[in-house]
Amino acid sequence: MADYSAYKSIKVEIRDGIGWAMLNRPEKRNAMSPELHAEMDDALARMEFDDDVRCLVVCGAGGNFSAGQDLKKFFRELENKPFEQRKARDLANSWRWGRLWGYDKPTIAMVEGFCVGGAFMQLIGCDFAIAAEDATFSLSEVNWGILPGALVAKAVADALLPRHAMYYASVGESFDGKEAERIGLINFAVPKDQVRAKTIELAGKLMSKSPKVLRATKQAVRNVKTMDVVQSYDYLAEKGKAIKVGDPEDSYNTGLRQFLDEKSYKPVEGAFKLGTMLKP
Ligand code: COA
Repeated sequence: MADYSAYKSIKVEIRDGIGWAMLNRPEKRNAMSPELHAEMDDALARMEFDDDVRCLVVCGAGGNFSAGQDLKKFFRELENKPFEQRKARDLANSWRWGRLWGYDKPTIAMVEGFCVGGAFMQLIGCDFAIAAEDATFSLSEVNWGILPGALVAKAVADALLPRHAMYYASVGESFDGKEAERIGLINFAVPKDQVRAKTIELAGKLMSKSPKVLRATKQAVRNVKTMDVVQSYDYLAEKGKAIKVGDPEDSYNTGLRQFLDEKSYKPVEGAFKLGTMLKP
């Protein structure tokens, strides 16, 4: 297992295949400083290649997801420091979007407490999101004079129906987990004491799938969104061929065998049993 013990502003825990990447500045409601961004970027890169991590959960310590960018350390203290500012922005955008967007493993945002402003990037960057019913979401930028910048406005506009995106970005009104579920910002809102269990349950479902097929599926769902029909047919056909090559589970043949020959599972009820491919 890789060593994640040196981080100061984040914490990494790995248990039963789940890698918990935790923003860890609870006294600042997990507001994101340049140091936190650098550490998250490093941790996510390492966890992508850590065999002990089969599903990534992004969350916050101390009962809050994140109060967004640190207004002091990320904004005020970097004014007139163009190099440091650029470096901090690059790292912030790298982990919150670039890495999560194409992450090789399934990713879940687990939201408790506040999820504000810049934290919407990692919220939407993750493949799935689960929140406490009483969590507080807020696109607060309009309330204090900046835009939902970096990629926040774009992420929100892509994730939500236009009226919802416009309303919450322009009015800056906060909303709870139930509303976040209603508008499709998250998958599930559950009572606060069930958030972790629900996250582990979803992670378990994801980890029961063939990693190679799941990776290709999430890439396909993300990528076809900006393709037209002809491009989508072509891309999905080629992607479908690609997942049959070098698949450690030999998923296609294993699935067919277990359903057609062994009659040991039904695809509509769950995944085929992993680790049972026939050796040539
Ligand atoms: N940047 C810097 N510091 C922040 C912060 C942020 N985004 N959010 C919270 N903090 C700090 C506070 O300044 C305070 O620090 P202090 O103890 O040194 O005074 C500490 O975290 C606790 O915050 P506080 O406001 O007392 O907690 P609260 O639970 O009453 O309120 C929030 C929590 C999130 C509602 C409130 O802190 C807030 O509105 N933060 C700004 C969120 C924001 O607009 N983020 C957008 C950035 S893109």
